[in-house]
Amino acid sequence: STRPTPGVPGEELLVLSNRQPYRHSDDDGDGITVDAPAGGLTAGLDAVMRQVNGTWIAWGDGDADAAVVDDDGRVTVPPGESDGQYTLERLWLTDEQVDNYYYGFSNRVLWPICHSALTNVDGNARFWDHYQGVNERFADAVVDSADPRSVVWFHDYHLGLAAEMVQDRIPEGVFCIHTWHIPWPSWDVFRACPHGREVLRGMLGNDLVGFHVPRYCDNFLRCVSAALPGAHVDWENRRVVHEQSVTTVRAFPMGVPADDINRQAKHPGAETFWRDFSDTHGIDDDTKVGVGVDRLDYTKGIPQRIEALERLWESSSQWRESFTYVQVGTESRSQIDAYSQYQQRVEDAVESVNERFGTDDWQPIVYTTDYLADEALYALYRFADVAIVSPIRDGMNLVCQEYVAAQQDDDGVLVLSDQAGAHDELHEWVMSINPHDTTAFKETVDEALAMPREERRPRMDALRRHVATNDISTWIRTIFATVDALREPTPKDQHH
Ligand code: G6P
Repeated sequence: STRPTPGVPGEELLVLSNRQPYRHSDDDGDGITVDAPAGGLTAGLDAVMRQVNGTWIAWGDGDADAAVVDDDGRVTVPPGESDGQYTLERLWLTDEQVDNYYYGFSNRVLWPICHSALTNVDGNARFWDHYQGVNERFADAVVDSADPRSVVWFHDYHLGLAAEMVQDRIPEGVFCIHTWHIPWPSWDVFRACPHGREVLRGMLGNDLVGFHVPRYCDNFLRCVSAALPGAHVDWENRRVVHEQSVTTVRAFPMGVPADDINRQAKHPGAETFWRDFSDTHGIDDDTKVGVGVDRLDYTKGIPQRIEALERLWESSSQWRESFTYVQVGTESRSQIDAYSQYQQRVEDAVESVNERFGTDDWQPIVYTTDYLADEALYALYRFADVAIVSPIRDGMNLVCQEYVAAQQDDDGVLVLSDQAGAHDELHEWVMSINPHDTTAFKETVDEALAMPREERRPRMDALRRHVATNDISTWIRTIFATVDALREPTPKDQHH
């Protein structure tokens, strides 16, 4: 649909994220190809931007020569569509900037710190210089495009300093929101962050800071009060007063485009995909199917999941040759050792389980790193009896919501780690696990596979209602209703 969402700004909306929604490249010299990157964030925002016709500024990973850009470096997307387009502006970064800002401070410092994975933190003085430098480039791009009506919306941990830089450059101020899509850790963890104070101060350049769950808001506010003596935290109203400006902190649990996923999962093309896929992998109608879909990231708990499955096939022989687990893994940030090692670890674990239990007719784990089109992915979700989402730590996790949205006949079961932000919302209806408690994890998967239909049905029915009601458009509407309320001066503010 290309109808504007009531209450959501139109052309005055400026969205900034590190990751772009479309990548243009000419890798083999055969002409320009366009693809969409992995990760729920860009897909969700793309749907919003199509409705509002705003501008999205992102790192132009890909070929500058291949990107069809005008003189200002802008391109209209989505490519090949005439309805619901918006403007995409790329910032082309040097290799040195990418190494130190993206692979450095963002993904070797902030990512592990925010996921409380302190042993994966790998600091280097150059990281910080380039993190600042790239945040300045994003801030400059805002200044070039913004006018007093603009609403500037930053996304995620790559851009933690940009809002403060924007406010420094625009003396009359501009309304800034920052949605932080990953966890915010406790102060006891965050205090390990080099330049953590500067990051906190950067975030206070925003009028509104959003996290996915209230726990992260509390952690953020505690960090502010511990690290910035000049900041006053108003706990009752969840806001921070700092250098004459006010930052409101709120939880906005993100959702998925549930209707759209449901529609695509129902499509005949989904059935065709599943028939081919199951034939290829010897999955017949009596085989129970489990699914997991993850970026190959050390926060996702994939080895722990495989370990639990190995214990299941070991102790419950009835699941041998009658339960197949499909793991879709997407390569991610492979230039970082912790990631390339993790990919290897996952591959080795899959191989060893398949060697141990596999037979001529049955492969326990089907592992693929192939790119799957949406329709194929939703088909996999639809026909899987159980989804296993077992992160060690995860800001929200949209895979579990996508799985729910793709279910037909209220039939699947969701096994979900209590360390995913989504668990805070969905815990009543899922099978909860602690990814480290292998025995209980194994037993829970066993129970999920054996669950009678009368029990599966009300759980999935409740999950589907929740995911359909709290979808991506609800998320957007709630955020902008808060923005409207904050921009409307309250009688108390006028009095001061
Ligand atoms: C997570 C982050 C996103 C990021 C995505 C994919 O979901 O919160 O900001 O875009 O992972 O990672 P990548 O490094 O490829 O952008």
